[in-house]
Amino acid sequence: MTTRGRFITLEGGEGAGKSTQARYIRDWLEARGRQVLLTREPGGSPLAEAIRHLVLGDWAEGIAPSTETLLMFAARAAHWNTTIKPALAAGRDVVSDRFVDSSYAYQGGRKGITERRLRMLERMVLGKRKPDVTLLFDIDPELGLRRTQERGDDNNRFEQEALDFQRRVREIFLARAQAEPERFVVIDASREPEAVSAAVAEALAARLGFVGPPSA
Ligand code: TYD
Repeated sequence: MTTRGRFITLEGGEGAGKSTQARYIRDWLEARGRQVLLTREPGGSPLAEAIRHLVLGDWAEGIAPSTETLLMFAARAAHWNTTIKPALAAGRDVVSDRFVDSSYAYQGGRKGITERRLRMLERMVLGKRKPDVTLLFDIDPELGLRRTQERGDDNNRFEQEALDFQRRVREIFLARAQAEPERFVVIDASREPEAVSAAVAEALAARLGFVGPPSA
């Protein structure tokens, strides 16, 4: 019988360097003999990628917080059912660059989207399933936004969100981490990428029970 793979999610505000660390984690797990699926949200399946295009698009009519929320969860439902769940069942580890905590932080940070409603949607899409480990890449929003500007990432409207909004996002992420310490590891993402990777490796070894050096 195959044992189920481990589900690792990466969360954080803009400019926290999640995507670089996601690739590092894939390589780290593969070096330990694991089969790994690296994916992201919104997106991660053909239908979910199509919804990503819709939800991150710049529409003349704007996008209401409720529309945005429902599209995020619609994408997640497709991603979960057709990509993540089958991979975990087949014994692969899944590393997702963002997942449901991003909806609590970003959509929950907007007016009118209560935590209760987000919990209802989470329950509808995921049941009681949660990631095994969630790494929260925590960074001062001012530094994070400066980094994204240096990268020239101004092609989607999320990157243009005000600093105040990013502060709110950070607060929600940190509050969630505090409420679920058995799932979250908070990583200081203000450091150099190598130092962040070292903290990631330490967290994964501790949380996933890896001992010793990687297998050859
Ligand atoms: P992306 O370009 O992938 O940015 P990042 O490198 O920051 O992950 O854009 C994803 C954007 O979507 C990001 O600004 C956060 C937002 N988002 C939500 O608002 N809600 C969600 O549930 C998810 C998964 C992402």
